[in-house]
Amino acid sequence: MDMQEQLRKIQEEAAASLEAVSDKAGLDALRLKLLGKKGDLTMLLRSMGQLPADMRPKAGQMINEVREKLTAQLDALDSKIKKLEQEKKLAREAIDVTEPRKHTPLGSMHPVSLVQDQLIDVFTGMGFDVVEGPEVEYDHYNFELLNLPKNHPARDAQDTFYIEDNIVLRTHTSPVQARTMLTRKPPIRIVCPGRVYRADEVDATHSPVFHQMEGLVIDEDVTMADLKGTLDAFAKALYGDDVTTRFRPSFFPFTEPSAEVDLTCVNCHGKGCRVCKGTGWIEVLGAGMVNPKVLDMCGIDSKKYRGFAFGVGLERIVMLRYGITDMRALYEGDVRFLSQFRED
Ligand code: PHE
Repeated sequence: MDMQEQLRKIQEEAAASLEAVSDKAGLDALRLKLLGKKGDLTMLLRSMGQLPADMRPKAGQMINEVREKLTAQLDALDSKIKKLEQEKKLAREAIDVTEPRKHTPLGSMHPVSLVQDQLIDVFTGMGFDVVEGPEVEYDHYNFELLNLPKNHPARDAQDTFYIEDNIVLRTHTSPVQARTMLTRKPPIRIVCPGRVYRADEVDATHSPVFHQMEGLVIDEDVTMADLKGTLDAFAKALYGDDVTTRFRPSFFPFTEPSAEVDLTCVNCHGKGCRVCKGTGWIEVLGAGMVNPKVLDMCGIDSKKYRGFAFGVGLERIVMLRYGITDMRALYEGDVRFLSQFRED
């Protein structure tokens, strides 16, 4: 086959291939096959040595012309493919702003957070500030300043997680009250919500981590009647006007006198039922007048000032509110349970 014949064949084949190629990979392969180091044209150029010397310039010129032509065709196809791919990409990425959105399931507030927020609402409505403090706490604030010195038997009532000898996971939010008394001047009116820890076994009514909200009021003429009035208002705001409180004598090292506070049973409204074990009352709070010793230790003059304090467990309020009988439901994170508290 002479050279002209071969060139014609290469061009014919190239024309067919150029028709068939439709993507970048195919184009690269074709460019290599035609113009690459071992490509058809290069091989032809190399074989020129076998031609008589006087024919070589003409043959060289012909081959170069074909090379230029093929290069131009390949380049044209290259831009065409690039343009097509760009168009495809744009079509793929186009955003249809009229398309209905996918349904995104809404989360819901945890019932403990719901109740905590509600209590905060009630107390801030009565002029209380919200103060928070550390969950990993010094023994000093958690116990000592609250009139619970080392080896005091009442420490046993709060099974404590110790981090170090003098550092604990707070067993109540009372240390926030001690911290506040040390840093603020009376009058003080605060509530301290937060997580607290006790080394209890998990069961239907106990958890080693639970939530409290404690309150503290200090002023010159605060009395037990103010405490009773405040807790009555709190009970009514939470459960309705027919709910009231009942105080029973009790003991806490940090209050004197101290009381356990019952609310009218929210289930039977005082008639007596399974929830209140027939008594018509349910115990929800500890409270009392701040022990003058605690005031003095926290830098408040007990001759001039008096105070009251109370503490409520939030889980108990939540369980009573929603008729939950097993506390574990609050911590298991089961969405079927939690989604029932959606407020929308
Ligand atoms: N700190 C007490 C507890 O955690 C509750 C309490 C607070 C009692 C304030 C009386 C006054 O058990």
